[in-house]
Parts: sequence; C-alpha cells; structure tokens
Amino acid sequence: LPVELTDLVKTHIREVADFPEPGVLFRDITPLLADGPAFRELIKGLAEHYRGRIDSVAGLESRGFILAAPLAVELGIGMITIRKAGKLPGAVFGVDYALEYGTARMEVHPEIVKDGDRVLIIDDVLATGGTARAAIDLVEHSGGSVEALCMLLELAGLSGRSKLEGYQVDSVVTYE
Ligand code: PRP
Ligand code: MG
Repeated sequence: LPVELTDLVKTHIREVADFPEPGVLFRDITPLLADGPAFRELIKGLAEHYRGRIDSVAGLESRGFILAAPLAVELGIGMITIRKAGKLPGAVFGVDYALEYGTARMEVHPEIVKDGDRVLIIDDVLATGGTARAAIDLVEHSGGSVEALCMLLELAGLSGRSKLEGYQVDSVVTYE
C-alpha cells in the first residue's frame, strides 16, 4: 500500500489510554472518519490499489462496514455483508471463532458470493486474527476466492497474521 496512506491514517488516529480496560492503549479511528477530505483520500487510495483486481468487497460488521461500503461504491462493485450472529434473514452459513474471552459467530448469505469471485475482505483492525480468519472461511465456503485482506490497523503484538498464512494481508498502519 502507498506510504501516503500510512501517513494519512497515522496522523488521524487518536490514542486513548486504558480503554476498554486498564493497561490497553486503544487506537480510535473516529477522527479519521470525521475528517471528510482525509476519509475520502483513504477510500480513493484504497480504490486505486485494488481497482481491477477484485470483484467484490466483504465488510465485517460493524466497523468494517464503514470502510467496505464507500470502497465498493468507489470501485462500482458489490459489497458482501458479513454479519454478527442472528442479524441476516433466511438461510445463512456461519462460522464460530474464539475471542480473547469467549467465542463469537459471523454469518453470510452464501449465494451472495458468486463462484470464483475475487473478494477483498476489509476491516478496521487486525488483532488476534479470529475475526479475519472466520471471514476467510465464510467467503471460501460460499465459493469466493480471497484476493487479499485489507486492515486499517494491525496490532502486530497479537500475532493475528499467523492465522492468515498464505493470504495477502495489507495493513495500512502496523503497530508493534
Ligand atoms: C473488533 C475489530 C475487528 C476485530 C479484531 O471488532 O473491529 O473486527 O475486533 O479482533 P480479532 O482480530 O481479535 O478478531 P468487534 O468485534 O470489537 O466489533 P465491532 O467491529 O462491531 O466494533
Ligand atoms: Mg469489528
């Protein structure tokens, strides 16, 4: 990814100490989203990077939706909504995954993914990698092919990347 995007995101992130619990430094992307020109530049930059290489964008509820929708519109391609359990109507395919404490489940409408579609999975943060890994399984089960994963922030200390071996993982900003 272009270094300009890294600088852009880095300078628009707010660091919040002791959130959501003592000792954790939270990286907050809301200032970036609230800055119209910066948000637009980010989406345009990502679109240039992936244009022609992907057929659809899969966004992960909920913060991934914020990035997936404008990117899909900018590229003129569809968005796949990968949602938390119980939100999608009708027949769904679901994957359970581990969180730091407990488990969670993500679901998709498998017929929404066209066979052989080159899919970009996008989310705001790569932490332990459980969410991203579940998204890969959902896309592949539905007949799609994961072209790449795009993460706005990667928290490398949590080793999420190790769950995504063999896949192209593009992180705009990486924190140790
Ligand atoms: C956060 C973040 C990523 C995920 C990363 O989502 O937005 O989706 O955690 O964590 P992991 O790599 O350890 O799986 P969260 O489930 O907090 O919900 P939200 O997007 O609805 O805020
Ligand atoms: Mg999330």
